Amino acid sequence: MARLKVARLGNPILREKAQPVDLEALKDPESGIHRLVEDMVETMHHEGGVGLAAPQVAWSVQVVVLEYTENERYPGHESIPLTVLFNPVITRYSAETAPGWESCLSLSDFRGRVTRSTSVTVEAWDQEGRKRVIDAEGFLAVVLQHEIDHLNGMVFIDRMDDLTQLAYQEEFETYWMGEKEVEA
Ligand code: NI
Repeated sequence: MARLKVARLGNPILREKAQPVDLEALKDPESGIHRLVEDMVETMHHEGGVGLAAPQVAWSVQVVVLEYTENERYPGHESIPLTVLFNPVITRYSAETAPGWESCLSLSDFRGRVTRSTSVTVEAWDQEGRKRVIDAEGFLAVVLQHEIDHLNGMVFIDRMDDLTQLAYQEEFETYWMGEKEVEA
């Protein structure tokens, strides 16, 4: 396993549409795609992220990894078991939306308030090449929308409708952290 360098905003790879993974390659344990996943998980753990999309480590392929065990960065959110998704697509967005503060390893000093659907359905394939349909709500729904955006060349600030609610992490903690939405 190896830790990979995280691509930061300004790297053009973050703005490309990622290529689909060849699902046949998942059947081959020697395939480089499995090595990439291992390295992405190690990188996500090292960087303290809740999710990571392959373009963030300069691989323009449709792979995302997610995992969250409760910590002080996102207080009160439910844990997410380690999840690896290939070629994920959001097939349903709830009409109901809610604002929440997001950050991103590719814009690591920033937090911004983003309004997203409160629940989504995602269709994807897992590491064994099996189709998965995930009905997600709450924190998991937000993380999935954020990570799948990366596969389409988008980052969270593109989803903000009010850029006055973009803050450096330190100023976020000083001026905004008491806001009710943060706990939501
Ligand atoms: Ni991100």
